[in-house]
Amino acid sequence: MGATGNVGGAVVRGLLERGEEVLAVSRHERKWPAGVTGIVADPMRPGSLDAAAADVDRAFVMSGYAAEAGLLASLREAHVVLLSASSAGLGTGDNPLARMHLGSERAVLGAGLPHTFLRPCSFQSNLLRWRDQLAAGDAVRAPFADVPVAMVDPADIAAVAVVALTEPGHAGLVHRLSGPEALTPPQQVGLLGEALGRELSFEAVPDDEGGAAGIDIFRHHPDLESEVQDTVPSLLGRPAGSLRDWLDRNRAAFG
Ligand SMILES: NC(=O)c1ccc[n+]([C@@H]2O[C@H](COP(=O)([O-])OP(=O)(O)OC[C@H]3O[C@@H](n4cnc5c(N)ncnc54)[C@H](OP(=O)(O)O)[C@@H]3O)[C@@H](O)[C@H]2O)c1
Repeated sequence: MGATGNVGGAVVRGLLERGEEVLAVSRHERKWPAGVTGIVADPMRPGSLDAAAADVDRAFVMSGYAAEAGLLASLREAHVVLLSASSAGLGTGDNPLARMHLGSERAVLGAGLPHTFLRPCSFQSNLLRWRDQLAAGDAVRAPFADVPVAMVDPADIAAVAVVALTEPGHAGLVHRLSGPEALTPPQQVGLLGEALGRELSFEAVPDDEGGAAGIDIFRHHPDLESEVQDTVPSLLGRPAGSLRDWLDRNRAAFG
């Protein structure tokens, strides 16, 4: 699932590099590289992935899609690597983000399938959410100004997913994933300005502009997003990708 997304796209490439055959789901017809069979399906539509599931022995699944129940029922013995989130660590149904991710984790557990749960911190690619502000001027406004976040490179999440999909020893594990350091939003904006060659300023806005779910996670449970995890170095044998590296590779996406 999500085969054209930040994480799923890199999962497809990583599986191809390992010589795996891939079934890739997209809502649209695509030209896929050799080794990939495209499936046009909308994961928001119940039942849309049932038929495809019968042909796979391992699956990369994202949380919160309506096709989930049918997909899990049709996967039989397949190993599921679920892209969940740090918020699942709240272990409660009160937070809407946690509720979505925990709901999918519980659905996988309920289906009795071998599984690996990935619980990443916020993605480094989330900085792209500031594109509109950057188009309008040199000031970036954001909530949780003093909360450091150990943002993770989506490519690292994908690399861990590929390891979990192709190597033994990951069944039943929860992998918390982060980048190599925790950075506050003003620090993130500083690095973004360096990467873009622009003098950017940061302006704090009230936490409630980040929504109640964000307040619960960033303000009340900073352990979920601020702690640096050693999962990427220990599983991939190299340091986790830094925000500076991600910005170097993705500068053009900021327009
Ligand atoms: N951003 C974060 O900080 C964060 C943190 C923790 C967890 N996550 C989880 O990670 C997941 C994947 O993130 P990502 O950055 O790889 O996502 P992304 O780049 O937006 O990709 C998601 C892919 O899912 C497919 N898709 C199918 N139905 C969709 C729908 N209704 N809306 C949007 N996309 C749909 C799209 O492929 P087609 O257009 O080809 O169909 C898209 O390429 C998120 O959904 C979230 O649950 C995110």
